[in-house]
Amino acid sequence: MASTIRELSAQDSVSIADLYTGVRARTMQIVAPLEIEDYVIQTAEFMSPPRWHIGHTSWFFETVLQAYKPGYRVYSEAFLFYFNSYYEGFGVRIERPKRGTKSRPTVKETIAYRNHIDEQILSILHSPDSLPEAEIVMSLVRLGLEHEMQHQELLVYDIKHLLCDQFAAPVNPLPESSTRVEGMAEIEGGLVWLGYDKNQVLRSRPFAFDNEKPAHQVFIQDFVIDKAPVSNGDFLEFINDGGYQNFRWWFSEGWEAVNREQWRAPLYWELQDGEWMIRDFSGLHSAKSKKDEPVCHASYFEASAFAKWAGKRLPTEAEWEHAACYDARRKVKQAFPWGDTDPNSGNTNFFENGYWSVAPIGAFPEGANAYGCQQMFGDVWEWTTSDYVPYPGFKSEFDEYNDKWFVNQKVLRGGSFATPQLHIRATYRNFFHAHERWMTSGFRCAKDL
Ligand SMILES: [Fe+2]
Repeated sequence: MASTIRELSAQDSVSIADLYTGVRARTMQIVAPLEIEDYVIQTAEFMSPPRWHIGHTSWFFETVLQAYKPGYRVYSEAFLFYFNSYYEGFGVRIERPKRGTKSRPTVKETIAYRNHIDEQILSILHSPDSLPEAEIVMSLVRLGLEHEMQHQELLVYDIKHLLCDQFAAPVNPLPESSTRVEGMAEIEGGLVWLGYDKNQVLRSRPFAFDNEKPAHQVFIQDFVIDKAPVSNGDFLEFINDGGYQNFRWWFSEGWEAVNREQWRAPLYWELQDGEWMIRDFSGLHSAKSKKDEPVCHASYFEASAFAKWAGKRLPTEAEWEHAACYDARRKVKQAFPWGDTDPNSGNTNFFENGYWSVAPIGAFPEGANAYGCQQMFGDVWEWTTSDYVPYPGFKSEFDEYNDKWFVNQKVLRGGSFATPQLHIRATYRNFFHAHERWMTSGFRCAKDL
């Protein structure tokens, strides 16, 4: 089945009501191939059942209605309990690992809840002047749409964990590589800009999370960075060289994870008759047949171990952002590696391409930056060594959304094949714990000069 999921647009000509309708519809398109039994199963503590995602994203909008729509009556106290994720400020909630222990609310009830919230929000969006605090409501609805896009990507991770190749994903055939991408690019350091500056971004991307602000300068040394993400073929060499059996490549906590979890390869790799295989949405493939694709589902520990084994290191997020978007000839920071136009399906592998997979290295030469680096956006989120901490001058714009996670996590950059097009931007800071690997995480290495 080929993908029919359309790109959404945030151009000025598209109203927030249209954007709302499009984003909400896409969530339901993603889950459409599921059978009813699939919606409620939780296959690991770190994932959530699809039914929970479709309810939780509605719950988020209901918190806006509760706060800002005069006379709004809560749909169901029981739903508030089940669909709250982690917000202390919104009351008691079910523990995350227990989301799959309940068959109620049913899927049908959850969809009815979703439809109710849609009616309520759209009535607001069609006549915002009726609200006392219309401007705040509009910005919260926009935040809610970004939140929903985050959950669309999480749905891809969770459905993969739940069903993998049993899911009838609407997969489009992968593009072929058209160029060889090898070696490392030399990047001149100095004082560089990091973070979101509203005066420098595209009209189509007026939104950024508070954690991307304020734009500020940091000093980086000259360095080199891989032109391509680390491939399955590269990673297979690390595995075959005994990388998972040699403590010297690993952080202490990483080595503990290797032994505790019996890691021998990234997630979704399987050893069959002595040959490494990779399972994805389209089936089981030999790792060799996918040697030229970016490695995916690697933890920070695995990325760091590989880098040490290769005599390199991971980049910092400042190095990554600068390398991705700085055009040294023009001496300007661009919105994207290729310039100041939105990502499109010819230069980036994002969700709407419908591949449900990484694409071969060299398949998107039009996405190259001024230094010849490719696939920095899309395909895999790339680990950086940077701790997920507030930028200097950070101001929280929404309690408990980003600000309470500023400890013990690492920043990843660039978006993945599961990221919606509208959700990809140069300053986006994703973050996960060092041991996590069910998300679409890969990496490229850097080196000091
Ligand atoms: Fe959420």
